[in-house]
Amino acid sequence: MKPDVLLIGPFFEPKQRELENLYTCHRYWQAPDKPAMLASLVDRCEVIVTSGGRGVEVEIMQVLPRLKLVACFAVGVDAVDVEWCRAHGVAVSNTPEVLTEDVADMALALLLATVRRIPFGDRFVRDGRWLQGAMPLTSSLQGKRIGILGLGRIGGAIARRCVGFNTEIGYHDPRRNDGVDYAFFDDPVRLATWADVLIAACPGGSATQGVVSREVLTALGSQGVFVNIARGSVVDQEALVELLSSGALGRAGLDVFNDEPRVPAALIALENVVLQPHQASATVPTRTAMGQIVLDNVAAYFAGKPLVTPV
Ligand code: GLV
Repeated sequence: MKPDVLLIGPFFEPKQRELENLYTCHRYWQAPDKPAMLASLVDRCEVIVTSGGRGVEVEIMQVLPRLKLVACFAVGVDAVDVEWCRAHGVAVSNTPEVLTEDVADMALALLLATVRRIPFGDRFVRDGRWLQGAMPLTSSLQGKRIGILGLGRIGGAIARRCVGFNTEIGYHDPRRNDGVDYAFFDDPVRLATWADVLIAACPGGSATQGVVSREVLTALGSQGVFVNIARGSVVDQEALVELLSSGALGRAGLDVFNDEPRVPAALIALENVVLQPHQASATVPTRTAMGQIVLDNVAAYFAGKPLVTPV
């Protein structure tokens, strides 16, 4: 008998298939009668697998008294109530490190695309507008001050790349990092006041909810650029749209949003933003590696071994 796994939502298909070959997986998102599916698993389901965006509600975990592991296909576990899990003896695992470099690449891709107006230039050529005259000049990244919000693994990888682009680096993080010589700011508003570009690279969740506030975005200013590869929740999205629309904030490159995949029409209508559909870790090699970590954590749990990447 293969052990049961409750699969809350789909993830990288080849690795999901491997999981489904190894265990009796129950596809929650496809269940016509979800309460009946949960009821059938009450006395036997010890493992939930879910994606970062989907997470899992406490209401689901609550009805599975034998639950011992929530394995997430993501580095960010803000869609899982980790405190609840801790209090109820449920371990949580994530997929750190393997995605760091791809996510940092996306931050730089969005930054350059935003500052140098790459999507605009692409449309300019395709629409035949070049035949009528040259595209307007853009601003430059050279010599700019880059403020990184959250100097963890991903923030650090972004900073290393920014050095190669001849920029100056500052950061705000709950912990000052004495191992780097980037300028430290003890407050996000002070960081944004100093910076030409602000890149959000902190975890999501209640601790960082709205940390990129109206005040922070206003401090960044009319020539400022905001890049978000973290979570939509870290920014006051309403203020972001308003300030970008009025010109009080210069530009933005955004991979993440509140309430994905819904993106406000007002944001889509703006010319001074570059948008991505939460693609930062979405490469075949990285998603393969993330999927393998999910499989390794589930296997470790059923083998009675320590998890590979516990949160
Ligand atoms: C993606 O957003 C992740 O948390 O891995």
